[in-house]
Amino acid sequence: MVLKQKTVKIVRVQSKEQAAVHVLNVLKEEQASGRLHTVGLATGSTMFPIYESWLQSDLSFEEVTAFNLDEYIGLEKDHPQSYAYFMQDQLFHAKPFKETYIPNGAAEDIEAECARYEQLLREHPTDIQFLGVGENGHIAFNEPGTPFDSVTHVADLTPSTIEVNSRFFDDIEEVPTTAMTMGIASILRARKIILLAFGERKRFAIEKLLEGTITTDYPITALLQHNDVTIITDINM
Ligand code: GLP
Repeated sequence: MVLKQKTVKIVRVQSKEQAAVHVLNVLKEEQASGRLHTVGLATGSTMFPIYESWLQSDLSFEEVTAFNLDEYIGLEKDHPQSYAYFMQDQLFHAKPFKETYIPNGAAEDIEAECARYEQLLREHPTDIQFLGVGENGHIAFNEPGTPFDSVTHVADLTPSTIEVNSRFFDDIEEVPTTAMTMGIASILRARKIILLAFGERKRFAIEKLLEGTITTDYPITALLQHNDVTIITDINM
């Protein structure tokens, strides 16, 4: 299949703080033009400085609905390593939103929960989707090999993702092996996508994107099909 490739915009920053300033300016512009109704939010350490800057800013999200990308399966929302807990701890406790949605990884019927979440997403078209990236090029929990037409689904985490993410757990055995995640098609429906990548750990994934070959081997390359993607990075290419 020949896929049409679009150009991504690269914003090179000297620091995470500079990246946060850039993000804040984009949000302010979008809000000023009345176009910011729904944001897609990410978890992971990449987002720490971004959410910190939102907390310190006078930006109001009281009219904004937020959807998170993913959640581990099997962790209750008060589990310290759940993404629900992360969002509460990093942002929601001090920055009120109109509504916030996170997949329920502890749902009894996880397939029904995937369908429910995807339906909610369709009812709230995303204006800006924030993304981090995994070292293997995954976006949300869309691991290598995930079809680009995927919607919200259950994903098996790769051994390398489990290993990388184990740094947040006491023991690698405690890292869930599955997660519920927006699919690649769900993510690509956003009007605008901003991906953040800091540090050498992310060089491989960003290089794959910049090589320009669209392949399910590197989910990040799906972004080359979207017409409004900005990569904010401190990596020198
Ligand atoms: C997890 C999340 C991704 C995130 C990635 C990178 O796997 N599911 O959404 O982008 O981690 O995490 P970090 O920002 O900590 O490097």
